[in-house]
Amino acid sequence: MSNKILNIGHRGAAGLAPENTLKSVQRALDYGVDWIEVDVYHIDGELLVIHDDRLERTTNGSGYVLEKSFTYLRSLDAGDGEQIPTLQEVLTLVDRRAGINIELKGPDTAEAVAALIHDARREGWQNSQFLVSSFNHHSLQHIKEIDPDIPRGVLLYALPLDYAAAASELTAFSVNMGMSFITKAFVEDAHKRQLKVFVYTVNEAEDFARMAALGVDGIFTDYPDRLQKFLRNSE
Ligand code: G3P
Ligand code: MG
Repeated sequence: MSNKILNIGHRGAAGLAPENTLKSVQRALDYGVDWIEVDVYHIDGELLVIHDDRLERTTNGSGYVLEKSFTYLRSLDAGDGEQIPTLQEVLTLVDRRAGINIELKGPDTAEAVAALIHDARREGWQNSQFLVSSFNHHSLQHIKEIDPDIPRGVLLYALPLDYAAAASELTAFSVNMGMSFITKAFVEDAHKRQLKVFVYTVNEAEDFARMAALGVDGIFTDYPDRLQKFLRNSE
């Protein structure tokens, strides 16, 4: 990986199209993102791409995602007439044009995601085109046990006393840190541990500049168009 800051489309391009839909993923691709981040749940043996544990905010359905059937969830409108996509549909659309950061949001996702990555490898994807992340570090431990070669991203929001130590423990590729608590000391600690630092969710030009000054390696944004412009202007 070069020193260039990576443009990571958050939930596809959540600021430009309904989040976590194929339309949103396509918008991110339109701006040449390096990576696309999506959130996944495991429902009836299928991996579905949706962020919240409830349906009301992003769909015309209601109730808890985990209490619904795959068929019901697929019948919903996730915005602009888009279905809640399967993770496989996202891979098919991306078709190796960007890396995919799969955030394990729901329970029991690790095995299914590892299996999907194994299948994708048979179709020409590389391990390095995937990053599996989670706030649930036990799920990442599970991924590591299943296949230590799948790159892991340790999600943090607040600032731990021992900085990026959890990511070292999981021999992660990256630590994915919330913008609200990130500091120079945190970035330096992560870099000393040979970890990449990706920061979420950054949407304003002044914050792109602030994060770049901290030395982050990648930025999650709902507006990959804005980040593309910023990165081009700072070349
Ligand atoms: O992976 C970065 C970011 O997506 C983590 O928070 O709540 O947007 O999934 P959230
Ligand atoms: Mg996420």
